[in-house]
Amino acid sequence: MRRIKLPFLKRKSRNTDQINNIVKSDNLPKHVAIIMDGNGRWANQRGLPRFAGHKEGMDNVKKIVKVANKHHVKVLTLYAFSTENWKRPKPEIDYLMKLPIEFLNTYLPELIEENVRVQTIGEFDVLPAHTKKAVQSAKDRTKDNNGLILNIALNYGSRFEIVQGIKEMVHDFDQKGESIDNLTEEMFSEYLYTKKLGDPDLLIRTSGEIRLSNFLLWQSAYTEFWFTDSFWPDFNEYLFEKALIDYQNRKRRYGGI
Ligand code: IPE
Ligand code: IPE
Ligand code: MG
Repeated sequence: MRRIKLPFLKRKSRNTDQINNIVKSDNLPKHVAIIMDGNGRWANQRGLPRFAGHKEGMDNVKKIVKVANKHHVKVLTLYAFSTENWKRPKPEIDYLMKLPIEFLNTYLPELIEENVRVQTIGEFDVLPAHTKKAVQSAKDRTKDNNGLILNIALNYGSRFEIVQGIKEMVHDFDQKGESIDNLTEEMFSEYLYTKKLGDPDLLIRTSGEIRLSNFLLWQSAYTEFWFTDSFWPDFNEYLFEKALIDYQNRKRRYGGI
């Protein structure tokens, strides 16, 4: 029999979903990565300039950090600026580079209270001085916290990371006079920004785009992916918990049976 989709039926099932939105305490992802996409389109839909979407997106970060912490996520990696985002118009780049400063000015006390540790991945040295200063200070001030690691991917590009890692590794092997034939996957992973963070268990992308956009290519070999049409500023605790529940219902096989 053909199923006819009626709007009121759709709404009913969504409400049921909401009632059942209960995250179990076992089998939670330790490392969640998010491609926070759709700020521009969120603003565009409202007739606002793109930067208004970025501002709204920034405020959303705190909400998601809180819910991730609530569910004992150990590492939350957020894609904030890619190595390809330098292609954007200068005023937008300038605004995006000010956002971490504003975010930390506004929320650092709360993050400290929640025992969050701020870290970054990406090429840090080439960031504007004011961005570096604010982020470095947040890293220093939270370095002894042992709660959730808020890992911001800032000027991050997976291919750059891999090539950089290869260069350093070849140099080290040369220095030690070690044969490259002895190289293992585990050894190479030590040359990536994520060496101490491990691979993401769950990767979320907002805004309806179904691609990685140069994010954690090596690390996501066996990551569970979760996509939503919601733009990042509309992504909320409910959707985050929905992603966790879906993750809990998946069977990770890693090639086994
Ligand atoms: C994500 O939103 C934020 C960054 C990439 C910095 P976008 O700015 O990519 O928003 P869309 O994809 O154009 O809607
Ligand atoms: C990915 O989003 C980068 C960030 C969210 C920081 P983009 O908006 O840059 O990705 P594309 O261009 O749509 O692939
Ligand atoms: Mg985008």
